[in-house]
Amino acid sequence: MGKKSLCLLIASVLIAYYVYNPLPENNEEGWKLMLIDAGFRTLGHMAGIAEKLGLAHYMETMMMLTYLEYAAPVSDEKVTVTDTKMNDVPVRLYVPKEKPDSLKRAVIFIHGGGWCLGGTAMSSYDLLSRWTSERLNAVVISIEYRLAPKYHFPVQFEDVYAVTKYFLQRSVLEEHKVDPERVCISGDSAGGNLAAAVTQQLLDDPDVKVKLKIQVLIYPALQTIDMNLPSYQDNKNMPILPKSLMLRFWSEYFTTDLSLMEAIETNQYVPPEFSHLFKFVNWSEWLPERFKRDHVYTSPVPGKSKFGQKYPGFFDPRAAPLLVDDVKLRGLPLTYVITCQHDVLRDDGLMYVSRLRKVGVPVIHEHLEGAIHGMLLMNSGPLFLNGGQIAVNNYIEWLNKNL
Ligand SMILES: *[C@@H]1O[C@H](CO)[C@@H](O)[C@H](O)[C@H]1NC(C)=O
Repeated sequence: MGKKSLCLLIASVLIAYYVYNPLPENNEEGWKLMLIDAGFRTLGHMAGIAEKLGLAHYMETMMMLTYLEYAAPVSDEKVTVTDTKMNDVPVRLYVPKEKPDSLKRAVIFIHGGGWCLGGTAMSSYDLLSRWTSERLNAVVISIEYRLAPKYHFPVQFEDVYAVTKYFLQRSVLEEHKVDPERVCISGDSAGGNLAAAVTQQLLDDPDVKVKLKIQVLIYPALQTIDMNLPSYQDNKNMPILPKSLMLRFWSEYFTTDLSLMEAIETNQYVPPEFSHLFKFVNWSEWLPERFKRDHVYTSPVPGKSKFGQKYPGFFDPRAAPLLVDDVKLRGLPLTYVITCQHDVLRDDGLMYVSRLRKVGVPVIHEHLEGAIHGMLLMNSGPLFLNGGQIAVNNYIEWLNKNL
């Protein structure tokens, strides 16, 4: 066997190893999903190796995807796109060209990426905002908040809060010709986490007079108490967000010290003085029956008490919006929640839906059967999935009817 064919053989075996991962059967584009999965896992392995060799922080390697997907702020015949700043925070602004003098709706959008990755300029996010602006004839403000590992909680929250608060001033809305009655906030994954946190905090902010009409939470991360929910157990190795990566994201949001991640992995870290929070993520109570399947509820086991002093933000509702009393949920605006079947974060979303409904907040819940985490990003280029395009269309259509 020649050198070339040997290399080819080894490459094929490696590719087959990477590509093969038993994925959900009811997915129509199984082979495509496997390739996407293989791509993400390869990147994850590279990041792990580079980190072990001391070459780069794990997230620095993972950021490659964000850079590779870079799309410049290009205006087209329908939408003017500019990179600018609001309240000193960079944003990408989409302003529709049609009917320039009439009052418009507005969407404040927060991208995902585990508080560490992603960006407004990623082509999938750029397209999502562009389509939203175009089809809704709405102003879209996509926020370029600062990321971990360089910046930790609450910087990410504070950046998105600063932009939202700035934009909701009457004078600013007027300047952008936006109808104050028709402003919504939306975000996916870590962006959904930030959107939920911002919406809650706005309720208690005496400076903000204009209310959000809608919050859209697209497969959001909402709690830091129980990392062994049925969805974490059932979807431990699902693309594009395996449990290990989600725990790493949570950990990096607060610190680069990996001892936090190790503590989270044991699911025995909530100090006794925080055990009153268990009830907010009691999935035995908050999860609809059909998602419990054969799982048996066990309450998380309290862990070491010094954890709470070391990472005080970990149970802060600005980081974990599910961890608040009912009184903090009352008064939230119409909420649209999207969850995916094969997603570790599924139950975070499902439990928020139950808790919001219980206190009378109007909630529309869309559950995407057969879908993986990040479905709305699968809208273009090599990541394109039919299901992704359908999910994007449904989301925009819903906004168009309700905002
Ligand atoms: C969780 O809910 C179940 C059923 O509603 C209840 O029996 C249990 O005591 C609860 N546990 C906690 C920690 O809240």
